[in-house]
Amino acid sequence: MEKQNDQSRMDRIVSLAKRRGFIFQSSEIYGGLNGFWDYGPLGVALKRNLKDAWWHDMVAGHDELAALPGAPSEYEMAGLDCTIIMHPQVWKCSGHFDLFHDWMIDCRESKRRYRYDHLHGRWAAHRGKKAFVTTDQSGDEAPPDTVAKAQKFFGLRAKQVDEIEWTGGLESLAGAIAAGTVSLGDVLGPDAAQPGTLTAPREFNLMFETRIGALAGDDDDRAFLRPETAQGIFVNFKNVLDTSRVRVPFGIAQIGKSFRNEITPRNFTFRSREFEQMEIEFFCKPADSAAWYRYWRDRRWKWYLHLGLTEGKLQLREHGADELSHYSVGTADIEYAFPFLAAGEFGELEGIAHRGDFDLRSHMEGKLVRRDGALVVETGADGKPRHRGSGKDLSYFDDVSRERYVPHVIEPSAGADRAVLAFLCDAYHEDEVPDEDGKPRSRTVMKLHPRLAPVKAAILPLVKKDGMPEVAIDLYRRLKPHMACQYDEKGSVGRRYARQDEAGTPWCLTIDGQTLADRTVTLRDRDTLAQSRVPVDEVVDMLRDRLR
Ligand code: GAP
Repeated sequence: MEKQNDQSRMDRIVSLAKRRGFIFQSSEIYGGLNGFWDYGPLGVALKRNLKDAWWHDMVAGHDELAALPGAPSEYEMAGLDCTIIMHPQVWKCSGHFDLFHDWMIDCRESKRRYRYDHLHGRWAAHRGKKAFVTTDQSGDEAPPDTVAKAQKFFGLRAKQVDEIEWTGGLESLAGAIAAGTVSLGDVLGPDAAQPGTLTAPREFNLMFETRIGALAGDDDDRAFLRPETAQGIFVNFKNVLDTSRVRVPFGIAQIGKSFRNEITPRNFTFRSREFEQMEIEFFCKPADSAAWYRYWRDRRWKWYLHLGLTEGKLQLREHGADELSHYSVGTADIEYAFPFLAAGEFGELEGIAHRGDFDLRSHMEGKLVRRDGALVVETGADGKPRHRGSGKDLSYFDDVSRERYVPHVIEPSAGADRAVLAFLCDAYHEDEVPDEDGKPRSRTVMKLHPRLAPVKAAILPLVKKDGMPEVAIDLYRRLKPHMACQYDEKGSVGRRYARQDEAGTPWCLTIDGQTLADRTVTLRDRDTLAQSRVPVDEVVDMLRDRLR
């Protein structure tokens, strides 16, 4: 039985990702850049397959003439590709300019910066000396980390750690300070030698700032890299409506890069500073919005299952009222039990949010706030809108019911990099298979869904002679126009199988002596290891059918 929090398993996944060219650290030859990742030859194919699967299943392959199971009615889907830098007013009206921040805390001694909500600690005392010892580790690694830090602080040898007196369990630093049970002067920072080196928490806006034009300097040149793709969709709502045939209910989908200056990027690609999102903004009649919310929540949940994520490692979590954004009527997260998390903990893959009419109204009227249960334009001391909207009419006229309304929005918002990471973690298996002499040999195999696998089939001549390479090359050329495949004649066939297993290739086709006699090849299945003989001339159709 596999443990969830298994750092060594995670380390092996990260090492395979690098060794086999799935994911590299950005700018590695210069020491890397924290929070930025590059996709290698196998990784780029995996990520592209994932994004293509999403685009096909949600947009290009969508049947707009039928009401899909669970959908309140038929609906249309359209696509969009917007710029990363948008008019700065977009972020003022969306709320990101004022509100998209995390609380950070700095250590004057170590010069390290932490997310305030990531710090936990507990009281430790030894011979009259005491401190609130903190850690930035999470899950099962946090308690031993505080012990190691307290040991160092009190100057104890390993066998003396039992002399430390601990009061209470690990608690959040922010909670303890808010409750008044701890003051910053008592706090031993995670990388500090003495207490009292942490600064008071400060807000830190997560948007990357840039300047537009050569005369950069004053505030008018300030622009931001988008922290989500969603806003490009909202500000183009009317353009899409006016230029295509879509009518409410309909969705607009976009895949693209987003940027967040995360205070503490961590856990491989899970929390990056540059990442890709796959977002849908689905516009519907307010009265139908609760039913559409349920449809999208369930539809997106099933998508991950259909692509092979283990159901037992997935969780669909509805947010409690205290977690909802001020505009949200309902939000659910689809979460995955990543191996770097403690047992029972899950990390978000996708959020499905009922956003009401917040976004379209914000871009019409100006930045909204909730007052007495209603969304109203936020005003400054002068009574004028704090951030003025576009003034454009983004309401919708339903020419069947003859009603005019501002559509409500359901937003399934997924992270492409997080999904790739979840599929990599889920696919990673270690098992034993018999080698060419029938002896057990351990193997690492990536059990990726064939739609996601970077290479669908490998064509392997058993030996580099007797006409086998010629038959293999001919098969490779017949298959290549239909799917990603590789020709490999280097090394023993066992080594070649092992290479393909690590890359996640679902099928290997071996050309051997019998092929020359009866024009059949051996088809080896990566997961079951079953081998069957297939006529060479049927391989292309057979694998195309399997991929479908
Ligand atoms: N428009 C809504 C929105 O952006 P979000 O929950 O902030 O919502 C959506 O982000 C998804 O984007 C997340 O579920 C996650 O998959 C991905 N994501 C967010 N921040 C990320 C980061 N720092 N690194 C990688 N993926 C991230």
